[in-house]
Amino acid sequence: MEVNPRVKKAEYAVRGRVVARAQEIEEELKRGSSTRKFDKIIYCNIGNPHALGQKPVTFIRQVLAACVCPSLMDAGILPTDVVVRAKEYLAGTGGSGVGAYTETAGLAVVRRQVAEFMERRDGVKADAKRIILTNGASDAIRRVIQLILHDDVSMDGGVERGHERQGIMIPCPQYPLYSCQIVLSGGSIVYYESDEAREWGVTRAELERSFLEATGSGVVVKALVVINPGNPTGAVLSESDIEEIVRFAEERKLVILADEVYQENVYVEGKKFESFKKVVAKLQSKALLFSFHSTSKGLLGECGIRAGYVEAVNVPDDVFKELIKLSASQLSSNTLGQIACGLMCSPPRQGDTSFDLYHRETQDIFESLKRRAAKLSRKMQSIHGFSFPSPIQGAMYAFPSIKLPAKAVEEAEKRKMAPDEFYCMELLENTGIVCVPGSGFGQRKDTYHFRTTILPPESDIDNLTYLLADFHTNWTQQFQH
Ligand SMILES: Cc1ncc(COP(=O)(O)O)c(C=O)c1O
Repeated sequence: MEVNPRVKKAEYAVRGRVVARAQEIEEELKRGSSTRKFDKIIYCNIGNPHALGQKPVTFIRQVLAACVCPSLMDAGILPTDVVVRAKEYLAGTGGSGVGAYTETAGLAVVRRQVAEFMERRDGVKADAKRIILTNGASDAIRRVIQLILHDDVSMDGGVERGHERQGIMIPCPQYPLYSCQIVLSGGSIVYYESDEAREWGVTRAELERSFLEATGSGVVVKALVVINPGNPTGAVLSESDIEEIVRFAEERKLVILADEVYQENVYVEGKKFESFKKVVAKLQSKALLFSFHSTSKGLLGECGIRAGYVEAVNVPDDVFKELIKLSASQLSSNTLGQIACGLMCSPPRQGDTSFDLYHRETQDIFESLKRRAAKLSRKMQSIHGFSFPSPIQGAMYAFPSIKLPAKAVEEAEKRKMAPDEFYCMELLENTGIVCVPGSGFGQRKDTYHFRTTILPPESDIDNLTYLLADFHTNWTQQFQH
């Protein structure tokens, strides 16, 4: 069978060649046939908190369990507020339960909770009719990119204008879902650079450079992606940065895709998450905005449930209708995930039976993430050969820059690998640690990085950074002469 060449071209580094090799080594370790110095694989490649030992939040799982198996509610083992919430969601399915499709945009009761959550967060009105519940943020992002990009013959008032190369501006470095999805849609990736030396900040001058270079080479730029807090950079944008971006997008008539899945993951003093929605409202901007959120990150870490949403702001009715039509082609997102989304947006309140436990569990997770971010930042800054100018502000990752000897770069070329992919592969072979090469995210020319998550248990961070430092020193030494 001939495979779609775009599928062949698209890459998703977070689960790329290094991870495939890690799985082979894991099998080897299980068979007991390994002579390696390590006995387990440490997966630091993906922001998948439960896979690295984070416990689910009890309240969320109790309501989901009651929705999946309503007879549990008669067993007298669930807190009263859990039963109330489960009944509310089940009533919201019209009595069909979680085994039935829902309406295309998702359960009305959940969309109302999502809208109320955003209103509390931003102090700005949110319309539940402009929210679509999806199978994780990835699904929402894919749908919106599909809505925007095409490489077909373009029409002008019904008259053919010929083929047009369309593109989307994405940050460099970026989360590879974007580059992958743009390639799949036949579009052009238009990078704008975040400046590592300035806490990965973005300037108006850089946005203009990127836009003008792309348009100068014949690309019609249609949209701009911002990831805040950043993956892989961990940077948290200030309100004034966001204002600058919104003004730029409005002037250049670009749709904004605001990826805000890490909005609860801000760890450092003086930094605060501000939503694009709030800034768009404050500036009374007419910029079209799609913003994304997810149950996978934050404090729940419910990646496997596959739940998220998109809110459309300033998007004309006819365009939104097309997004609904596109969404209808996959009927509805998974119903249990929709309920998880409602629970994320509408947690127990003070006075509810589950409040204390919920508060304690989520605070513990937050404090632990914060400690791990601080510790990993300190350690990364102290490793000889690593450069890590700004501590992790948010999200779940560290993205250090590494110095590689010229001979290591030559060796990588011989092996037909990017130098940092070679480095990550060797790191894996020697230590069992799985990281993602910086080249998978995009990086400034002749710089090399890798991304690790901050998610290994706190007790493992010392060992992780010791192994990284030890590997870096010994491995780079062999290429020094
Ligand atoms: C920036 C960013 N956006 C979206 C996603 C995907 O989230 P979801 O699990 O909701 O599809 C991730 C996952 O790591 C991410 O880092």
